[in-house]
Amino acid sequence: HCFSKSPIDGYLYCEGVKVQDVMDSAEKRPFYLYSKAQITRNFEAYKEALEGLDSSIIGYAIKANNNLKILQHLRSLGSGAVLVSGNELRLALHAGFDPTKCIFNGNGKTLEDLILAVEHGVFINIDSEFDLHNIVKAARSVGKRVPVLLRINPDVDPQVHSYVATGNKNSKFGIRNEKLDWFLHTIKSYPAELKLVGAHCHLGSTITKVDIFKDAAVLMFHYIDKIRKEGFEIEYLNIGGGLGIDYHHADAILPTPMDLIDTVRELVLSHDLKLIIEPGRSLIANTCCFINRVTGVKTNGAKNFIVVDGSMAELIRPSLYGAYQHIELVSPPAPDAEYAKFDVVGPVCESADFLGKDRELPTPDEGSGLVVHDAGAYCMSMASTYNLKMRPPEYWIDGEDIVKLRHGETFEDYMKFFIGL
Ligand code: LLP
Repeated sequence: HCFSKSPIDGYLYCEGVKVQDVMDSAEKRPFYLYSKAQITRNFEAYKEALEGLDSSIIGYAIKANNNLKILQHLRSLGSGAVLVSGNELRLALHAGFDPTKCIFNGNGKTLEDLILAVEHGVFINIDSEFDLHNIVKAARSVGKRVPVLLRINPDVDPQVHSYVATGNKNSKFGIRNEKLDWFLHTIKSYPAELKLVGAHCHLGSTITKVDIFKDAAVLMFHYIDKIRKEGFEIEYLNIGGGLGIDYHHADAILPTPMDLIDTVRELVLSHDLKLIIEPGRSLIANTCCFINRVTGVKTNGAKNFIVVDGSMAELIRPSLYGAYQHIELVSPPAPDAEYAKFDVVGPVCESADFLGKDRELPTPDEGSGLVVHDAGAYCMSMASTYNLKMRPPEYWIDGEDIVKLRHGETFEDYMKFFIGL
């Protein structure tokens, strides 16, 4: 793992660099710290899994982490991009992603954003009846035929938190198979506007059992056979993203990208299809820690608290989903340190503001470092400015170097939004 405690001095390291040294040289505020090498390793694991499946597309789900430098790095490794807004598309183009490796997803794509997507020739996933009609409008307005995929809800339970389950029958995303005939018939009536090239599904996120992907894939192949019988030349199966990671650091054996691809490999080959995958979390989550400083320690009733300078504003997953992210101190405990169970909380005025609950930790000194692991996905990209906590800076370790990737937002940045001051 890219962040680990040294058996020699007991400090936390990111690759070869002591996190304490990064804290000493970085701005004195919470920040995100990534390992560039781990991003590369994660991407290579997917590339290796896809060997033999020619012309497959790895579409990195930009929503997981939209740092431009990280996007440029993933693009340089050969990644495509999965987009859910016009601005994500603009950013992907800025980062140099090949539009023919980009997929535009979403249940509420606006006509304006669709027009931008059609202009640049990205794949578009059809999500609903109205979405289909808007894509047709965009195609006519730009004067281009659009490569589209149909997003079908296979109704396979991903066994995850309900907020991140997306492929069940009552979901707001995609279409139900009962409506397949209507969609195929309607797509046929727009031959100048729509070219149906594939089928898409996305079950949900944090999935930790490959059988779930397998069950969905079997259904998707069934739908693809049906679509082909209607005379469409389907080229792509897009199985979405959703592979979970080991947030608990408890040595659980979780499926790898290879395990995921193995569930569909033979069927993809035998159906003469190209595969599209849309990983977010499994590419980026474990490459990063969110770094905090301890402000103080307090006790109320039966609860001990470590209060840090980071909060739900910078990292909302624990508050929003009750998500577990592993927490560790940056420096080794003093020999006489007392251990206790702590809630790790921020300064935000909400009791929902916690980064971890009931964590067994040595009592830390004020000013010492405390990290939240696996903070690369859906942490910085979901950060807010609640309580006027400004979005934090981001750094990565590149070889031996500590490199700032993005400035933290400042109070002055905030004040720029007001007119006539
Ligand atoms: N494709 C589609 C259509 C998606 O909706 C998503 C994620 C992905 C791909 C990437 O999924 P991943 O490989 O990252 O699981 N904020 C939540 C996660 C929301 C996921 C939204 N969709 C969290 O922090 O856990």
